[in-house]
Amino acid sequence: MTKTATAKPSAIKSATKDTHLSFSAKTIDPLKVTSDCLILPCFEKGELSAAAEAVDKATQGELKRLMTREKFQAKPGQSLLLLSVPAIAAERVLLLGFGAKDVAVDNFRKAVGKLSELLKSLPCKDITLCLDDLQIKEKKSDWIARQVAEQLGLLTYTSDQLKSKKSDTPLALKKIQLGVAKAELPLAEKGLAIGQALAKGINLARHLGDLPGNICTPSYLAETAKKLSAKNAFKLTVLEEKEMKTLGMGSLLSVSAGSDQPAKLIVMEYQGGDKKSAPYALVGKGITFDTGGISLKPGAGMDEMKFDMCGAASVLGTMQTIIELKLPINVVGVIAASENMPNGKATKPGDIVTSMSGQTIEILNTDAEGRLVLCDALTYTEKFKPKTVIDIATLTGACVIALGNHASGLFSNDDSLNQEIVKAGNESGDRAWPMPLWDDYQKQLDSNFADIANIGGKEGGSITAACFLSRFTKNMKWAHLDIAGTAWKSGSAKGATGRPVGLLVQYLLNQL
Ligand code: BES
Ligand code: MN
Ligand code: ZN
Repeated sequence: MTKTATAKPSAIKSATKDTHLSFSAKTIDPLKVTSDCLILPCFEKGELSAAAEAVDKATQGELKRLMTREKFQAKPGQSLLLLSVPAIAAERVLLLGFGAKDVAVDNFRKAVGKLSELLKSLPCKDITLCLDDLQIKEKKSDWIARQVAEQLGLLTYTSDQLKSKKSDTPLALKKIQLGVAKAELPLAEKGLAIGQALAKGINLARHLGDLPGNICTPSYLAETAKKLSAKNAFKLTVLEEKEMKTLGMGSLLSVSAGSDQPAKLIVMEYQGGDKKSAPYALVGKGITFDTGGISLKPGAGMDEMKFDMCGAASVLGTMQTIIELKLPINVVGVIAASENMPNGKATKPGDIVTSMSGQTIEILNTDAEGRLVLCDALTYTEKFKPKTVIDIATLTGACVIALGNHASGLFSNDDSLNQEIVKAGNESGDRAWPMPLWDDYQKQLDSNFADIANIGGKEGGSITAACFLSRFTKNMKWAHLDIAGTAWKSGSAKGATGRPVGLLVQYLLNQL
């Protein structure tokens, strides 16, 4: 059978759909501001924000009486909705707890997260958050505004795009107003811009991750990159299988061999900085469906392998955000896109292929396909002489066992890059945790018949996978993020998370 692209344009809905929320920062009077909901910060031990204090006074202490009656303790994320509060212009008041008055970063995130949850079911079109006197350790108004715009911006994505009947309680929210002190307005506006751009990038990554394998094919990913590149946002090159063959990408092509969908190598060159300055490279695993190939996966839960392109989605999401922010740096995004399927032409266990680097690989398990597509994409990326290269991949189930769903696994051949990524993870709340890449593990990849085997046995599975990649990145400052545990959620909240767009954007922002 000949290979044809089957992603129908009709199925290609607006992947880059705009967030329909408008954010603004203003100095406000909490008593006079007209709004569907006035959100007033409260703290433990009965302490109130200046705005809450003002409303309490105007209502002759009604706020405090209600707080006591309802046993409202202002724990982080705890809330109390009050209707028809006298003496103010707003329709409703929402008391929102932030924990201790000297607000901890995690408590702030938690409170805004809870607010975002609440807004899904409240009939409020425009809301006003009074954040002017909020004190958060080591953070300024730009950070605060960014968190609000990022978290509330995520509300515009819903995973019902392919349902014929949409929710009967669609999001009412349209306008978000932040009350900040006058001197802080420019900072807050800057934060709002970053937060909105981030939400847009994260939402794109979630959208792509959630799409099923029959729609989100390698061609669909290329199509999405093309849409993003509109108005010359960046230079786009999509390498076809023929060109990959000419380049000697025998490893990548061994993965697409068993599929009717053609592989694509998607290359996005964003130039926001000086022509001559070296780019930061991001390389994403884009397996649009991973059956395991001839080393077929068990059937139960196999649907989740549609998420095996979340590395690629995070590269597209990050590109989306940096275009939006017009970051003054150069960034190259590379996506190795393929299906992993078991047809008659599929690669068999024991097959030996030659990678673009010249190293031969014995494929002992066709389900360890991520490293096979990434190694050629990484070798290709060398031509850009990048300052640093970060690959992002849902690479191993072993990483989920090691770190669970909280942190992405981080591996690097460069100590300072390693530290910068940990830092970016902490700052963005999209954390990564360092794992070893010691030589001791390398011998698990020995093969009797080729330069290297594609699996390293049961022990330290996420580490040997990273060791495999390290053989192809010796000439670059390289880091690898294993996002198998962080890129999506299973169970009733099944869906893509958009991670690690937050971490990657923070890393790039930190380079300015
Ligand atoms: N895409 C999977 C990794 C994966 C598994 C992510 C489960 C999330 C949840 C990858 O291609 C894979 O199949 N890896 C194998 C490697 C093994 C054959 C060495 C794995 O982790 O089992
Ligand atoms: Mn696999
Ligand atoms: Zn995979």
